[in-house]
Amino acid sequence: MSKAPRCSNRVGGIGKSAIHEMTRLSKEVKDVAFLSWAKPTSDTPEHIKEAAIAAIRDGRVGGYSETSGLPALREEIARKLKRDNNVDANPAQILVTVGAIEGLAAAIMAVVDPGDEVILPTPTYSTHIRQVVIASGVPVLVPTIEQEGFVLDIAAIRQAITPRTKAIVYCSPSNPTGTVFSEQQLRELADIALEHNLTVITDEAYEHFVYDGHNHFSIASIPDMRRHAVSCYTFTKTYAMTGWRIGYLHADEHWIPQITKAHIPFAICAPTVSQYAALAALQGDQDCVAAFRQHYQTARDLMCARLDRLNSVFDYQKPGGSYLMFPRILLDAGKDSAAFCKRLLAEARVSTTPGVAFGPTGEQHLRLSFCVTEEEIDKAFDRMEAFAG
Ligand SMILES: Cc1ncc(COP(=O)(O)O)c(C=O)c1O
Repeated sequence: MSKAPRCSNRVGGIGKSAIHEMTRLSKEVKDVAFLSWAKPTSDTPEHIKEAAIAAIRDGRVGGYSETSGLPALREEIARKLKRDNNVDANPAQILVTVGAIEGLAAAIMAVVDPGDEVILPTPTYSTHIRQVVIASGVPVLVPTIEQEGFVLDIAAIRQAITPRTKAIVYCSPSNPTGTVFSEQQLRELADIALEHNLTVITDEAYEHFVYDGHNHFSIASIPDMRRHAVSCYTFTKTYAMTGWRIGYLHADEHWIPQITKAHIPFAICAPTVSQYAALAALQGDQDCVAAFRQHYQTARDLMCARLDRLNSVFDYQKPGGSYLMFPRILLDAGKDSAAFCKRLLAEARVSTTPGVAFGPTGEQHLRLSFCVTEEEIDKAFDRMEAFAG
């Protein structure tokens, strides 16, 4: 028999995704209470679906669009960036991507050379760490300060900088902690980037889901950061459009042609039908976004109230944004979060995500999603209370 062909070290060295592993295991459990996916459970609003159906019927979706995206969509995105993010954008600074993920991947490929160090405040979305590895970069994981609500440790970020540091990648509001990085901290981060000539790549997927007076601040709104920020956004969360695979990034004109060179070999263009749906999302009534936000806030409050009743098992920081939270497991068994989550699944029939999936500082935690119905949260916590005895 011939030898098995070898895959690249880059990809071969990447471990299994704990999120996908838990999803697989959850499928084997009957009537599972599911708190492990960061995906909106609501369906896409009707007016968005209707616009896509009309575009299909009119024969507008059979071909590629411009690689950077439909001009009308890029114009509408520029208006949205001005209105919601205080970013003075024009369509030439926008690249429509296959979700935020492809934008992030293309940006990281365009910025990072093999061996370049990329600072990531952790715990963080594991995909970002993998994207750096796939670009042959070196992820430098800098813990956030949990006791203060998983805020950035600006002094530690400063200390982590070396002559090989090329970029900083963060997401705010955060997956998995739900922390909304403050304007003050992001201004300090911008000072570091400018001082060391770094590029800051942002994932602002949850920009519209912030609560209790927290404000989402886009680092690209700082005029001096214009050449140093690549900001990635998505329709996935805001409009419950997970499966449409549509997002966009904003960067200064000098970056767009470079990032486009990485975008084309992976995607050519974002799905044309989804671009028409996205255009309708931006042009339509925004009440659906407010309704999603209200629902997530109510669900978060319920989850926090239920966690309060389990305070011998979990300690938590109340999330100011996203629809995720990251409680610390107080039990000894939580030291191995993957084993703990597997037990919770097998014995309590509750599916959660082990904290270790979000970098080493995530160990002894689990991630819970509150983008589910209140009944699902109650079902999960009733079972966890019985499990905890
Ligand atoms: C922080 C973060 N970024 C990006 C994504 C995926 O975004 P998209 O569907 O736009 O690729 C997710 C999905 O869970 C996420 O949590």
